[in-house]
Amino acid sequence: MAILPIIVAPDPRLKLVSRPVDKVDAAVARLMDDMLETMYAAPGIGLAAPQVSVPMRVIVVDIARKDKGEEPISLKMANPQLIATSEEVKSWDEGCLSLPEHYAEVVRPSRATVRYLDENNKRREVEADGVLAVCLQHEMDHLDGIIFVDHVSMLKRNMILRKLRKAKKLGTLAAE
Ligand code: NI
Repeated sequence: MAILPIIVAPDPRLKLVSRPVDKVDAAVARLMDDMLETMYAAPGIGLAAPQVSVPMRVIVVDIARKDKGEEPISLKMANPQLIATSEEVKSWDEGCLSLPEHYAEVVRPSRATVRYLDENNKRREVEADGVLAVCLQHEMDHLDGIIFVDHVSMLKRNMILRKLRKAKKLGTLAAE
């Protein structure tokens, strides 16, 4: 396994629409493992392939609180698809490994059903609520070139992106 460099916004590679995976073969499974290792090292609870410069529809998620002694429950997904969402919405203070140290309230459906291919190329479905529902929707957004600040006001988005641009220029990013 390997830890991959994570792209920090603003970056045109985070705006690409990623391509579907034909089949989860050994190379895709290895990418999933590398992404999971990268995510745990960061640390984070979700990561999408475009964040590590791979424009493919692959995400990994693990919402277990290891700081509270919870066992890891990793999800590795190719071609995740939102097949149902609740009408009920919830606001969550979201963050992202590509926007280190910045957070904003984002409103999303509070429950979501996601269909995907697992690391063995098996078709699966997960019904999520709470932080898992938020995280899955956030990671799937990345596959369509959307980051969480695209869901907030232009004022707030520009402020965050301006600070990140400045931090990148100065080399003071915590993630680096
Ligand atoms: Ni993110």
